[in-house]
Parts: sequence; C-alpha cells; structure tokens
Amino acid sequence: MAKQDKVLIFDTTLRDGEQAPGASMNQREKLEVALALEHLGVDIIEAGFPVISKGDFESVSMVAKRIRACIVTGLARAVKKDIDALAEALKSAKHPRIHIVLATSKIHLEHKLKKTPDEIVQMAVDAVKYARKFVSDVEFSPEDASRSEKKFLYRVLEEVIKAGARTVNIPDTVGYGMPEQYGKLIADIRANVPNINKAVISVHCHDDLGLAVANSLAAVKNGARQVECTVNGIGERAGNTSMEEIVMALRTRGDYFGVATGINTPEISRVSRLVSKYTGFVVPPNKAIVGANAFRHESGIHQDGVLKEPSTYEIMRPEDVGFTGTGLVLGKHSGRHALKARLKQLGIVLSDLELNKAFERFKDLSDKKKEVFDEDLVAIVEDEVQEIKDVWMLESLVVTSGTNIVPDVTVCLKSGGKGYMKKATGDGPIDACYRAIDETTGLKGKLLNYSIQSVTEGQDAMGEVRVCVNFNGQKVIGLGASTDVIEASVKAYLNALNKACMAATAKGPGAKNIDFGLQP
Ligand code: KIV
Ligand code: ZN
Repeated sequence: MAKQDKVLIFDTTLRDGEQAPGASMNQREKLEVALALEHLGVDIIEAGFPVISKGDFESVSMVAKRIRACIVTGLARAVKKDIDALAEALKSAKHPRIHIVLATSKIHLEHKLKKTPDEIVQMAVDAVKYARKFVSDVEFSPEDASRSEKKFLYRVLEEVIKAGARTVNIPDTVGYGMPEQYGKLIADIRANVPNINKAVISVHCHDDLGLAVANSLAAVKNGARQVECTVNGIGERAGNTSMEEIVMALRTRGDYFGVATGINTPEISRVSRLVSKYTGFVVPPNKAIVGANAFRHESGIHQDGVLKEPSTYEIMRPEDVGFTGTGLVLGKHSGRHALKARLKQLGIVLSDLELNKAFERFKDLSDKKKEVFDEDLVAIVEDEVQEIKDVWMLESLVVTSGTNIVPDVTVCLKSGGKGYMKKATGDGPIDACYRAIDETTGLKGKLLNYSIQSVTEGQDAMGEVRVCVNFNGQKVIGLGASTDVIEASVKAYLNALNKACMAATAKGPGAKNIDFGLQP
C-alpha cells in the first residue's frame, strides 16, 4: 500500500468519547481500553484533557507510560498552562503528540473568545511554536471549522503549518456539515492553503444530524488522511464518528475509496463490548457493525440465501469484525432448512421424522418467543425427540415469602405413582424450593446458572426459567415456563433433574454411583 493511501485512525474515545454525559471511566478502565485500542491497531490515542482535572492528567500520563505502539496525545487549548500540563503528562510517551484547539468561527470569536481574527492567528501560531519546544508532532484544530469563514480558515491553517503543525484537523464541531459541502471544504483547503502538503489533513465530525460517518467519508474521498473517531460513536451530545463504521466502510468499499486503515478488524467487537461495559452505554441491536443484529438474518428467504451463499445478503464477513454469534436467529419466520442447518452446527443430526417433530415444537415456541436460542433447540430435541421421562413431577407448591421473613415452602412431588411432601426454608423462595426437592430426591444439585426471561408480553407474561445444574459432576440444562416465576423455577430444576436421571439410566444401574430418582 502506498503511504498516501493509508488513512490514520485517531481514536478519541478516552477524550471526546468520555465527554459524553454519564460515560466517565475510571483509570483502570481507561488503561484497559487504551491497551485494547493499541491491540486493535489505531494510530493515535487521545487519552484526555490533562489541564481540566487531576484525574485526566493521571489518565494521560498512565496511557503515555504504557502504550508503545501508538502515538499518544491529549488536548490543550492554545494557552501555555494547557500545553505545559499536556507536555508533562506525555513525558514518558514513546510517540507523544500535542493537540491544540482554538476556535476560528465568527460565532466563537465574538461570543466565546471575544478576540479579533488577528489575535486568533497570533494565539494559534504562538501555541504551535510553544508546543514544538516539547515535541515534534503537533496537531492544530480550528474549532468549529465547518462554520468558519473559509478565507480566514485558510489563513489560520497556512500560519500554523508554517509554525510547525504536522496535522491540521478540520472539526465539524456542532455536526452542521453536509457530506457534499464538507467534502468540498476539504478539497478547497487542499486547493487554497499553499503549504498544505506539509501537513496531514484530519477530520473530526460530530453526529448531531446523524452525518458524522458520511461527512468523514466525504472528507476522505476529498483527500483527508486522518479520521478522528470513537468506539461505538460515543461522545459529546449525539457523539462522534463511529470508529467501527468508518473503518468497515473504508474496508468494504476499498474499491470506491482506494484507501486502507491499519485496523485489525476482528478486534472490533471486543473493543466495542469493552467500551459499552465500562461506559454503561448499551449498543443498540440495530447499530451498524457492532449491534447484536448486525449480522443476523431472520427472514426465511434471507436465511436460505445466506446458507447457500453468504454474499447474497452479507457485504462483510461477521468474523472480519469479530462477531461471534451464530448469525442466524431462529424465529417465527425461520423455515425447516434453517432449523436443520442450525442443529447441524450444534452437532445434532436428525432423521426426517425427528426433524418434523422438532420443527413442530420449534414453531410452537417461536410463536411465543421472539428469538429461539441454541439452548431452546437442544431442549426441544431432548424433550421431543429423545422424550424425557418425568421421573419426578411437581404436584403442588405452597410458598410463604415477603420482606423481613424467612421464606418457607412446601413442595409436593410425585414419582412412580407416589406423592412426597417436603417443607424447607432458604435464602429466598427459590432456594427453599430447591432444598425441598434435594431433600425429597436425596440428590444434591449445585445450581451453576439461573436466568429468567419473559416469553410473552404484558403483565401476565409467561416467564421462562433456564437453569444449569450440576448433579454429581454432570451438568444439565433445565427449562421451565409458567406465569408464576417460582413455579417456573421449580419446573426448570425438575426438568434438569429428570434429564440427569435419564442419562444415568441410559448408562446402566449404578452409573457414577448415583441412584437417580429412586430414593424418596
Ligand atoms: O469537536 C471539536 O471541535 C473537538 C476539537 C477539540 C477537535 O472536539
Ligand atoms: Zn469533538
């Protein structure tokens, strides 16, 4: 790849991204994100704004100390004290960069800075020269560039490049630009700033009108060679250009853009999940590239097409962004072919007759549930095809529970035509029920996992409980559904117990020395 064909990825998740209300991360989390970004292959990490707080100063210092493969930068206004703080925070960086911001639009000059255009040019030049005393890599951002008067913008850019800025960043600070217009601004800068070839043109777009990625792409098409972005597009107000979208657009449409990034794209999903976890900002399911549904096909026609040839409905391979899901969500629109294929991926091969039975059950379930998961399919196959025999069945259940009382339950089970009743207490009503069952059956189950979700809508929704229980070294999954969550929990536990009994019977008497279900 020729050098000019590379687009540098400047990640500002830890600075502009963290400016999103409620997105703050602690230092350990920031370091983990920085290390993940280094592994992802971003070129520049903007780690904070050191002068604004002690915490930001320390974050930038820590990232500067640990990150070796990327340029590390932070933000500074065009004043000495900001530049001093940033230079100090960056002092152990292997590749330090000072990033200076100063607004150039009339609105900002008149209302915020209360400075004349000449004063702004002087401040910008002085700041860049001062920063160059500390580092050779200086970036200058004329804030609100997209709303700045073009001639003035050209003048500022020419002067800061003369003063030693190696990168000039053109922020669309308020997300006002339109792709064609913003792309033309980049082309005009290239045509009208005489020394522009001495600097890399960078872009920094906000998503107030949902155009941050489109504007950044238009800029690349017109010669920008650095894009500033954040993981999951987080950032001030509506956020910034989303890293994963810009990277995958440039990669997927390399034919159109003729450029490439150095991003190790299979790491994208992992970094996205990490940032979501630490900021608490949930990624919407329909989010491009990293949303849970981004590579899922539910319509029967699409599923059939993807199974025959993925490129029918996929323009990127899920594995290229590290998407680990199965891709095919089975739901009410899925056909027999999709079910058979998914079961095969799970290692289950059924005869035509068995598949028909499983398909009927699957259709019933998908009418009630939006998505049918792998565990549901396994449960269907086990129940329907392998026909689980209910050694133990729930006869009745009485639960006394509330605030400030110890839950007390009476569980009546039936086995081999006989009834067994047991009372128990526990840490909660479900724990008490499981203890009562264990005492009745003489088997001690260790609950490894418990989850509940509603399978229908409304206040009277059916709750489906899924448990994973270890019975004497054997892990079994059990499912139970009811409008009463405690009853659903008991049914799920008994379902697991009955499967364990069946497995032991299949292995012959005395299997693993368990007399499953025979000891009331
Ligand atoms: O949005 C903006 O203008 C910025 C600058 C500091 C680049 O974040
Ligand atoms: Zn910004």
